[in-house]
Amino acid sequence: MDKILIYGSRPLSGSTKVSGSKNSSLPILAATLLTRERCVVQGVPDLSDTHYMLQILTYLGAQVERASGTVSVAAEKVQSVAPYDVVRKMRASVCVLGPLLGRCKEATVSLPGGCVIGDRPIDLHLKGFEALGATVRVKGGNIKVFAPKLAGAVINMQGRFGPTVLGTDNVMMAAVLADGMTVIEEAAQEPEVVDLANFLNEMGAKIEGAGTRRIIIEGVSALHGTEHRVIPDRIEAGTFLVAGAIAGKGVTVARVKPEHVCSVTDALARCGFRIEIGADWISVSPNGDASPLELATEPYPGFPTDMQAQMCALVSTSRGTSFVTENIFPRRYMHVAELKRMGAQVQLDGATAVIQGVDRLLGAPVMASDLRASAALVLAGLKADGITEVSRVYHIDRGYERLDEKLSDLGAHIERVKAA
Ligand code: EPZ
Repeated sequence: MDKILIYGSRPLSGSTKVSGSKNSSLPILAATLLTRERCVVQGVPDLSDTHYMLQILTYLGAQVERASGTVSVAAEKVQSVAPYDVVRKMRASVCVLGPLLGRCKEATVSLPGGCVIGDRPIDLHLKGFEALGATVRVKGGNIKVFAPKLAGAVINMQGRFGPTVLGTDNVMMAAVLADGMTVIEEAAQEPEVVDLANFLNEMGAKIEGAGTRRIIIEGVSALHGTEHRVIPDRIEAGTFLVAGAIAGKGVTVARVKPEHVCSVTDALARCGFRIEIGADWISVSPNGDASPLELATEPYPGFPTDMQAQMCALVSTSRGTSFVTENIFPRRYMHVAELKRMGAQVQLDGATAVIQGVDRLLGAPVMASDLRASAALVLAGLKADGITEVSRVYHIDRGYERLDEKLSDLGAHIERVKAA
């Protein structure tokens, strides 16, 4: 298992390009199961998670070819059973349920296991399938959904912690081939949901309202192949903006959709950083000491939960006390104990992290636990004095394409080493 060593307090500068979106690529690749014809998806990032999705599509019978960021999938024949061994590596595998149900009118997929960021039930996904007329059985660790035919319905996707992203995606993918009209109320509005809806419409679906809380889907009898480029990864963009804030003297993040990250740029501006925004780039530069802030994660267009850990790392050296509240995954604080090992002053009060800014962080051996927590530890290491050693970096490789190389190109002294 690799480790990453960060030799801290080296100022970053220059420009970096954002890769394609992981959280767009995964449901879009799953949606290729909805047609027998070939689909070509461009800008798919080289991550272990996208590789897992391609393994699942291949297992289900699709012909998959990949050449750097371009993936071609032809699912002429598919089978509808995805067992534990195939899906256990990635929770997002659950989003093959909707396309298989839509196309084959049946699907059996292993129930996703536990997750360190908190409870991640799929009750809203299953409720949506039942509303479309499917029978749902959960038995022996498997979810089995089937229906002689699917019929449009009105479905509310609001959960205890807000709408569900993959739930909205899954129901949308099942409904595109259903008879009649489906209305998804309280739908997730994330840009990745819009990107999936655009892809489905390019395949011949009839979807309106993606990006709003009300999505209307007019069922069609069949879908065709298409070509599509996924949107840039807004969470990767946010992570590099925080890197530029935490240790930069002027960093530009290019090939980004600024409108997708305005909650992050607003938060950085509230911390006192200078933000400049262009058509497809954003630059961040210091403007004196960082100020503390109060922040709460919300469904899009609110502040993303996937940027919460990175912001905790940033404000751990601000002038004063910050309050960061996690409203989507209230227990998503695996990074806190590790930041404290580096000298951060953090108290957890329910779903709120109370962070007393300190003058400096000190490098230490720390353990990655999940994708975004591990990114936060790397960012803290950029700021810290001495060497930070992040282990279990496979978590990072799930969602960041060449993070260490890109940071190194910005001037960071960072090395990836094989653990002894
Ligand atoms: C997506 O997960 C993202 N993953 C997550 O990013 C992201 O954190 C999350 O959305 C929220 O923005 C992908 O897109 C692959 P949800 P998803 O269903 O869809 C509750 C990353 O770091 N809920 O929107 O699985 C749930 O427990 C990953 O890239 C139910 O109660 O998240 C949570 O509290 C991590 N019942 C809230 O809703 C359900 O049926 C939002 O979860 C479904 C969800």
